Amino acid sequence: MLRGGCENEGVKTFWQEIVAAAVGVVLVGGLAGMVGCKVPPSPKPINELNKSELLGRTVFQSRCGVCHNDRKDEPRHGPALVGVFKKPTLPSGAAATDERVTSTIQHGRGLMPALGDTVDPDDLTNLLAYMHSL
Ligand code: HEC
Repeated sequence: MLRGGCENEGVKTFWQEIVAAAVGVVLVGGLAGMVGCKVPPSPKPINELNKSELLGRTVFQSRCGVCHNDRKDEPRHGPALVGVFKKPTLPSGAAATDERVTSTIQHGRGLMPALGDTVDPDDLTNLLAYMHSL
């Protein structure tokens, strides 16, 4: 009888291990899922951009492209701006908002030159629209 009890316990432990393993798999799977969510979605394909976003792309290419990549996650002179508005914060840690990005464009930051009012307000609106599509 006693021996049987021990075997039973052994069996219990075995099942507990299975359950623990299953929970582990679910947890690890869940974590991987969460990590997956943190990868920024890829930019909207160029052929799906609306008029404003397309105009913004030309502004980006003439005013920002020398120093920033827009569609690939590799730094140039400045950080890559792919997914810039899809991440909660800018590379500096500041909130990724239109206001903050506009202020960075107008006032500059570190090695990034201030563009002041040299970006036309319409161009700026389109540029922000394009950056939101990244
Ligand atoms: C001459 C190169 C240069 C040009 C042109 C330039 N940038 Fe930058 N940019 C940089 C550098 C360098 C940084 C990193 C600044 C730092 O954090 O010290 C930067 C940083 C940024 C950041 C991140 C700011 C933060 O808070 O982390 C944004 C957003 C940005 N640039 C947007 C733009 C946009 C939009 C344009 C075009 C209108 C532009 N930049 C043009 C060099 C440039």
